Amino acid sequence: MATQTMNRQFRLKRRPAGKIRAEDFDFVESPVPAIGPGEVLFSVLYLSMEPIYRLWLTDTDHDLPPVAIGDVVRGVGLARVVASNNDNWKVGDLGSGMFGWQDYAVPPPPALARVARFPANLPVPLRSLMGVCGSTGFCAYFGLLDIGKPKENETVLVSAAAGAVGSVAGQIAKIKGARVVGIAGGPEKCRVLREEFGFDAAIDYKRTDWREQLAAATPNGIDVNFENVGGEIMNAVLERMNKGGRVVLCGLISSYNDGARESGHLQALGNLLPVFTRRLTMQGFVFTDYAPRFGEAAKQLATWVSEGKIKDRDTVVVGLENAVDALNQQFDGGNIGKLVVEISAP
Ligand SMILES: NC(=O)c1ccc[n+]([C@@H]2O[C@H](COP(=O)([O-])OP(=O)(O)OC[C@H]3O[C@@H](n4cnc5c(N)ncnc54)[C@H](OP(=O)(O)O)[C@@H]3O)[C@@H](O)[C@H]2O)c1
Repeated sequence: MATQTMNRQFRLKRRPAGKIRAEDFDFVESPVPAIGPGEVLFSVLYLSMEPIYRLWLTDTDHDLPPVAIGDVVRGVGLARVVASNNDNWKVGDLGSGMFGWQDYAVPPPPALARVARFPANLPVPLRSLMGVCGSTGFCAYFGLLDIGKPKENETVLVSAAAGAVGSVAGQIAKIKGARVVGIAGGPEKCRVLREEFGFDAAIDYKRTDWREQLAAATPNGIDVNFENVGGEIMNAVLERMNKGGRVVLCGLISSYNDGARESGHLQALGNLLPVFTRRLTMQGFVFTDYAPRFGEAAKQLATWVSEGKIKDRDTVVVGLENAVDALNQQFDGGNIGKLVVEISAP
């Protein structure tokens, strides 16, 4: 049974302009829902923070339809079953799915069918199921290996490298024998890239000489660009790419707060001339495209973590009520590794 009687929810009040603000949402409380036939009640333990949430709050379709005004804000979480009228789910089961920004969720049948179940007693901390051993890791794994296809001694460049996806993508590239260069904001993140995540070089894009740093760190050019940022950073990286290089278009975080597709996205995808002159292959992807292969990735990633080949770091914000600030942290660079909001401590 649910241990609380009330369910707190963030509901979208208006479309945000720029960074999200508390006034863009109604933070409401209602009784924890009772379950009907076939339904399952989940208590959300962790809410995964993902930059794409900001795009889902616009009125444009970004892989998924916009969150409607008045609806619970969409979000991926890790949750435990606290009541069940469904033979497939029993109390205590753990699942990851679109539970939304709330304490408790009763997913409708299509969403329930997509909740991924985790075995009990996994040898990794629960939070890792949102990070390296969950969607973040899957994104890095398939984007880098299936699209980037790094070869030994090639140079792989990762932007937003100290964040969730970037830190894992860079570490996988190291495992594959590449020379790995990361771009991140500030000296501490650059230190973490080199000393904890094992990158060969780190570029602090907050320094005015970042272009010179980029040139110095990539003397043989760049073969694979794992692109998380877009804009000026992507343009500078594309200009240093070798002929036949691969660009893994994972995300364009520099544009998400800009709002309108017309201004934001064009800005983020500035100068594509090198794609043509350097014969680059540029491919976008959404990690859910690889859902049938998640098992393969989970097994491999967990093995690399247990062997110490991938370091698993996260930043935890405690309390659902702090979710707005948490999402903004990703745009301010406040996190190292995976950012999660702890809703109900296990
Ligand atoms: N394709 C997919 O399926 C998929 C799935 C998940 C995520 N993604 C994408 O992957 C990227 C990273 O996501 P994540 O969840 O791993 O987030 P994250 O990297 O943990 O957090 C975002 C980081 O981006 C950096 N950043 C923010 N604004 C920036 C800007 N204007 N210029 C340069 N750097 C900026 C910040 O670090 P600094 O301190 O270094 O600035 C921040 O910590 C995003 O673009 C996201 O949309 C794609």
